Amino acid sequence: MDKLRVRGGKPLEGTVRISGAKNAALPVMAATLLTPGVHRLRNVPRLRDTHTFARVLERLGAKVAFDANLLTIDTQGVNSVEAPYELVKTMRASIYVLGPLLARFGEAKVSLPGGCAWGPRPVNLHLTGLQAMGAALEIEHGYIVGRDAKLKGATIDFEVVSVGATAQLMMAAVLAEGTTVLENVALEPDVTVLGEVLVACGARIEGLGSRRLTIRGVSSLRPIDTAIIPDRIEAATFAAAAAMTGGTIRLENVVPDHFEAALGKLEESGCVIRRAADAVTVSGPARPRPVSVVTHPFPGFPTDMQAQMIAVCAIGEGTSVIEDTIYLDRFTHVPELARMGARIELKGNVAVVKGVDRLAGAQVMATDLRASASLVIAALAARGETLVDRIYHLDRGYESLEQKLAALGAEIERIH
Ligand code: EPZ
Repeated sequence: MDKLRVRGGKPLEGTVRISGAKNAALPVMAATLLTPGVHRLRNVPRLRDTHTFARVLERLGAKVAFDANLLTIDTQGVNSVEAPYELVKTMRASIYVLGPLLARFGEAKVSLPGGCAWGPRPVNLHLTGLQAMGAALEIEHGYIVGRDAKLKGATIDFEVVSVGATAQLMMAAVLAEGTTVLENVALEPDVTVLGEVLVACGARIEGLGSRRLTIRGVSSLRPIDTAIIPDRIEAATFAAAAAMTGGTIRLENVVPDHFEAALGKLEESGCVIRRAADAVTVSGPARPRPVSVVTHPFPGFPTDMQAQMIAVCAIGEGTSVIEDTIYLDRFTHVPELARMGARIELKGNVAVVKGVDRLAGAQVMATDLRASASLVIAALAARGETLVDRIYHLDRGYESLEQKLAALGAEIERIH
């Protein structure tokens, strides 16, 4: 298994171009199933997850071709409604094919996503929402099976703000008979942009950007032709790397508003941040100040930056408190950071981080995508060498990370 060897201690300097967003690309890839046609998606990041999703679509009979970051998906030949366990188990987002398959074909057989590194991630809101729209769903041998579904408009009030369930039901509703009202929806840019892409294809969706969506079903949509938005979590991760190493990084191809909550906390920790229309420059402090962070759905502080922020606070001048309200046990990075000398006490879903002068290089293990990002940026600030194992987790969501970091002056290499 590949590892990353990092020699820390150098301030990162220079410019990095942010890639397209994984969490925006995946639902748009699923939405191509709604319409038989040739769809063009530009600025798609080349990641394990986008490649896995491409394989799911190929399994369903679509023709998929990558040309650099241009993804062409031909869904005219889709002839199966089965998304197999061996693919879904590697990437929960595969469940996004469920709504579009039921909407277009009236049937679907999609493996239930398995467990996750940090505990339960149910999909009950996806299922109850589709059932409210008239889909009879059974769980058979680990698969969600829907037959003879004729989706109809319904009013669905989400008890929890869910990115996945909002996107799922939005895709199911655009071709449903009648009107669907979704209440308490997610506002993450990935969701709002998915709605805008669908509207550009002829869907009738009102209320994008608000917590209430009204979707009037139409009989058909045009093929998708769009560019995927920049990845705000990748951008915020590089900003945190500037904070940890005391360097200055210019982030190009970003939408500053999409990661303002993270930028605000980094400013509180002492970073100097200059925002432009599509670029942000972050200068890290000599040593971060302590901050308190509570994660929330967008526009709040993203849970996908919780691990990276804990790494920043691990070398802070004082005690920081970081609470994750989205995933109560998303802390598998904490014992690994402790191996590097971090002093972090976990109290339920709250991490109390007592900053130390300097972290020390060590052998550590990645456990999930964002946990691995926190270990890499910690290694960039640590004294000596760090070996990060199981970096296949990183490859799921960061495009050419070590090349981008090396271009900013990091001493980093991949060991096969
Ligand atoms: C999306 O996951 C992202 N993944 C996650 O990013 C991100 O952490 C999460 O949103 C929150 O921002 C993708 O976009 C592919 P949710 P998703 O449904 O859709 C509960 C990364 O690092 N819930 O918004 O699965 C759930 O348990 C990944 O890129 C239910 O109870 O998250 C959680 O507590 C990791 N029932 C909360 O809602 C449901 O049916 C938010 O989850 C669905 C969710």
